[in-house]
Amino acid sequence: MPHFRVFATCDIGAEALDRLRRRGFELEVFEATEPPPKSLILEKVRQGVDALITTLRDPIDEEVFQAGEGTLKVVAQDAVGYDNIDLEAAGRYRVPVCHTAQVLTHATAEFALFILGCLARRTYPSEQLVRNGEWKTWHPYRPFLGDEVTGKTVAVVGTGRIGQAFASKCSGLDLDYLLVDPVAPPGEFAARLQNLLDRRWELQLARRQCRARAVTLDEALPEADFVSLHVPLTDQTHHLIDDRALERMKPSTFLINTSRGPVVDEPALCRALKEGRIAGAALDVFEREPLPADSPLRDPALAGRVRIFHHFASATRETRLSPDPERGMAGRCVQGVIDVLEGRYGGDPSRMPYVANRDAFAR
Ligand code: GLV
Repeated sequence: MPHFRVFATCDIGAEALDRLRRRGFELEVFEATEPPPKSLILEKVRQGVDALITTLRDPIDEEVFQAGEGTLKVVAQDAVGYDNIDLEAAGRYRVPVCHTAQVLTHATAEFALFILGCLARRTYPSEQLVRNGEWKTWHPYRPFLGDEVTGKTVAVVGTGRIGQAFASKCSGLDLDYLLVDPVAPPGEFAARLQNLLDRRWELQLARRQCRARAVTLDEALPEADFVSLHVPLTDQTHHLIDDRALERMKPSTFLINTSRGPVVDEPALCRALKEGRIAGAALDVFEREPLPADSPLRDPALAGRVRIFHHFASATRETRLSPDPERGMAGRCVQGVIDVLEGRYGGDPSRMPYVANRDAFAR
């Protein structure tokens, strides 16, 4: 077996990385919590590493692929999203780009549901009240109430794996669904979900008979009590939720974003929140990450209605760290490196399960 060198821009988890070491791969890990400068990535690539393990924070652009021409054999991203990687350039330089689709579906979907609940039921203001010693007595409605989730209407925007898992996890809440997908019409999924809702009703497990409908975004927004975003970031989805979209929502609507920050026009969202045109937002992702200190989303006047998280949705011990490629992002990421470097699947990246730019290798 040839001697392979791998540079990881981040410690993605010891157990998974040990799988590479045990195969005799020479592995260098950038140990700091912050990402390495791009100049260091370029230096490693110019020195001839065979594989790069990357995260969302690393700009892997044309310059990187050019620097690695003839030596860089694979880029394995420890994330499902890869909007930091120039996939076209990767294809031109014949470098397969692996990612970690599927393993983070359920962690991300459950997080979206949980923050939806925290936002609507005001768990953060409630906890603050207790912690600040401001809980004086029990009262039917003072100092504030939350909004019930059960029985409302949710718009699921993006019905790929994560959107479908989110919808399925919501099914115990007797919601009506408005299913929106800008790319693939969710008719078939709507039918499957309707079956599940009907079955719950037949088994007397539901409070009411619920409906799932495939609709357009424009149709969904005026009706939805919750709008949950599950689309990838593309030219088509950039600022999908802009002034115009926010204008169509009800003042009682809550927005949940666990997809990508730029799907939401943040200044437009802040205006809508300040003017009371929507009820609140729970955001795990932002146009700029980490969220800048001067972001209007940090406005204390909005704190009761805006929940903000540190791009945390997939961050469970199991999903982030498991060395098992069927279970964890770390496992899937290193498996991508192994598949390419060891020439599995007949050495054909178009047949490798974790390659995002398979099309570039199709014969
Ligand atoms: C996280 O956001 C990911 O893309 O894995």
